[in-house]
Amino acid sequence: MSQAKTIHLHDYTAPSHHIVHTDLTFEIFDEHTLVINRMQVRRMDKESGAMTLHGEGLTLLCVKVDDVKAEGQFECDAEQMVLQCDKDEFVLQVVTKIYPDENTTLEGLYRSGTILCTQNEPEGFRHITYFIDRPDNMSTFTTTIIAETSRYPILLGNGNLVETETYAEGRHMAKWEDPFAKPSYLFALVAGDLGVVSDTFTTMSNREIALNIYVDRGNENKCDHAMRSLKNAMKWDEEVYGREYDLDIYNIVAVDSFNMGAMENKGLNIFNSHYVLADEDSATDQNFMGIESVIAHEYFHNWTGNRITCRDWFQLTLKEGLTVFRDQSFSADMNDASVQRISDVKALRERQFVEDAGPTAHPIKPKSYVEINNFYTATIYEKGAEVIRMLHTFLGEEKYRKAMDLYFETFDAKAVRTEDFLWAMDQQGGFDLERFSRWYAQERTPTLKVHEHYDGVKNEYTLTLQQVIPANVKGEKQLPYYFPLAFTLLDRDGVALQWNLADKRQTLLDKGMLIVQEEEEKFTFTEVTTEPKLSINNNFSAPFKIEHDQADYGFLMQFASDGFIRYEATQKAAMNAIDMFVENGEIDTRYLVNFAAILEDESIGLEAKAFMLELPTLSVLMQEQKEIDIAPISKALNLLKHALATRYKDTMLTIYQQFHKPENSALDAQSMGERAIKNAVLSYLMVLEDEDINALCVVQYENSVTMTDRIVALDLLENYAPDLAQDRLVHFYARYKENTLVMNKYLSVLSASEREGTIDRVQALQNDPVYDVKVPNLVRALIGVFARNAVAFHAPTGHGYAFLAEKVIELDALNPQIASGLTTAFRSYDRLNPNNKALMKDALEMIMNEKEISSNVLELVQKILDV
Ligand code: BES
Ligand code: ZN
Repeated sequence: MSQAKTIHLHDYTAPSHHIVHTDLTFEIFDEHTLVINRMQVRRMDKESGAMTLHGEGLTLLCVKVDDVKAEGQFECDAEQMVLQCDKDEFVLQVVTKIYPDENTTLEGLYRSGTILCTQNEPEGFRHITYFIDRPDNMSTFTTTIIAETSRYPILLGNGNLVETETYAEGRHMAKWEDPFAKPSYLFALVAGDLGVVSDTFTTMSNREIALNIYVDRGNENKCDHAMRSLKNAMKWDEEVYGREYDLDIYNIVAVDSFNMGAMENKGLNIFNSHYVLADEDSATDQNFMGIESVIAHEYFHNWTGNRITCRDWFQLTLKEGLTVFRDQSFSADMNDASVQRISDVKALRERQFVEDAGPTAHPIKPKSYVEINNFYTATIYEKGAEVIRMLHTFLGEEKYRKAMDLYFETFDAKAVRTEDFLWAMDQQGGFDLERFSRWYAQERTPTLKVHEHYDGVKNEYTLTLQQVIPANVKGEKQLPYYFPLAFTLLDRDGVALQWNLADKRQTLLDKGMLIVQEEEEKFTFTEVTTEPKLSINNNFSAPFKIEHDQADYGFLMQFASDGFIRYEATQKAAMNAIDMFVENGEIDTRYLVNFAAILEDESIGLEAKAFMLELPTLSVLMQEQKEIDIAPISKALNLLKHALATRYKDTMLTIYQQFHKPENSALDAQSMGERAIKNAVLSYLMVLEDEDINALCVVQYENSVTMTDRIVALDLLENYAPDLAQDRLVHFYARYKENTLVMNKYLSVLSASEREGTIDRVQALQNDPVYDVKVPNLVRALIGVFARNAVAFHAPTGHGYAFLAEKVIELDALNPQIASGLTTAFRSYDRLNPNNKALMKDALEMIMNEKEISSNVLELVQKILDV
């Protein structure tokens, strides 16, 4: 077994040399690509007689220093080149040969269908040429691309197009120049035969920017939404952050084979086609929302990530946490803010809380890593965004904006650390920097225990808060947090009470929030004339788990003014009801009654209401179990759903009829809300296995014009009326088999299915002509979704585990990043019941015993098995 090495933050040293300018020429041939790389190098450390460059899997043809062959001056191993050179300034030329058609890892230069494209974050560039491939080496780049005109009519690079030429023998050239210095991870190149949709955006200083979205020919009619989202994002960043776009051109290219969602390369974003292409017939409402947020996210990186970048990869949350916060704020402004908040917190709990509770927990700023690709995690991203959100709360909009202005002013064109960001925030005051910094250094989700006491004689209400801070992965004690806590005290009718706090230092007065900082803290409110009902952590003001034994969820479901808290209360109440059933087999009738407070309340926005009606997922319920055992919670969940559907059948049918509008495909909030709510009630009703309801579902599949409606119907039929599903699955397949994005949905419906035999069908689908193990979206749709299907994956036979282990091994040989993504499904190992644990151990050992396993997968498996 190989032992990969660990990289530590405290070992950071600045590079000895700086590549000031990089002039690249790519000559694309059918079998290989020639890369001529001329670097203007400056020696930074005058003591250093050697320059180290990264390079992996390259065929080296030539090295020259100041145009003289550097014979005997350099040595290469599998990972780097060391060049002996005493000059302070020199031109280093390196010529390499690479084979993009054979590159299945999808990092560096690779082929997606007919397109050649790049993915260089975090360390892909070293697969293209020798370079100081680290983000603190910021260089300007020019890119010359030469290729066959008929096969590659479109040639794109970063920055502005400065020259084109037609050559003999059917070849042509394009030269691109990017005036902004950037790290190599932001370098991009695209060559292919592509269709394009173009538009313009006029900036706040009246510059006209050319916007282009390049897609496979035939898909040009699916770019409207992406283009609209881009223009909205550009406008929003001007209005909210005062940030204007800096180049004259903004290109986006959609490719089918992509490891991630999208990449913010300077002036040339490369996107998974999943986050670009959409029309009503092929994309769901959720897909449309996803496109809006990912387009915005990559655009926002231009300032938070590209202009100001990371000194090293330990700083990843500097750009990702901040940019997620920015894209969440944008989406909240474009749509219903409370719905956006509910959906962001839901994602945080389902992904980040799970990670934080397991063997791969890490701080948003890790101190060490083995494989940097494994650290693009929900923690760095989603928890990172929550940390920025807390700063935003402490500072308030105005001071936050000033602090951001200072950040941009001070660090533009630099590669910086999270401390630099916090320094800018701290210049505005308003929070305790030292204590707040613990959010960057500590891991695991804290719990806040809430205890209330009301003294009706003194009219005094006390709130006792206790922070339960878990030890870190190594078992070391961690310190309490400093955070803003939003709350309201309500009277019996849900009206907010005015309050008066004895000790004013404990509040953010103007925001009506508490500042919490001690392990245990008491807040005493005076002149409280009636015993209040408490609504706490409103809008999820801090990323804590709340334990509030005296909470009245029935009351909050009905009266909380904060949409998020109303959602929260429905989730907590459902979880309690599920607990009760698991413990003593009884259905919580109070919960059934309280459910009406949501279902029958016509004042709630439809989308928010659909979220509130959802029951907690198995993934969330599993987290609450001391020892994971799927069968009892899955059974309880189904019975509760059945009880609700039985009790509220008529109301649900009425809601369904009221909002089912099969002809409507509009994307406004009302139309999307109508689809969400009637699909939410349909998903209850289908549990009843009632013929008339099944018929409604079939009609919805057949008559609705939107993919949202069709895929929901197909999924419900698959799970609750499999006999009726059969024909519709055949029909769906026939209708969409040419559209790979829709085929992802087809595969996902089948691999998420909770009925018997899913694993066999998933295995068989690997041989289906639409499936291709080299396309990550398809792997995620079939295998990834299966690994998140708790019922099938955790089957007591252990077949789910063995199957996934086999797939991890197979994929690891092709694409280690995708393989390690699948491996995360094993993270529940330590908390499984003994039967499942033993079976999962076998599967994990099967992976460990493979001779050629990547550091990506190995790092995870070792952490999971704690070896
Ligand atoms: N910089 C990342 C893309 C990336 C991540 C490339 C990891 C290579 C390795 C990009 O900005 C990003 O964060 N994309 C997300 C989507 C985003 C909306 C959170 C993604 O790809 O999932
Ligand atoms: Zn990002």
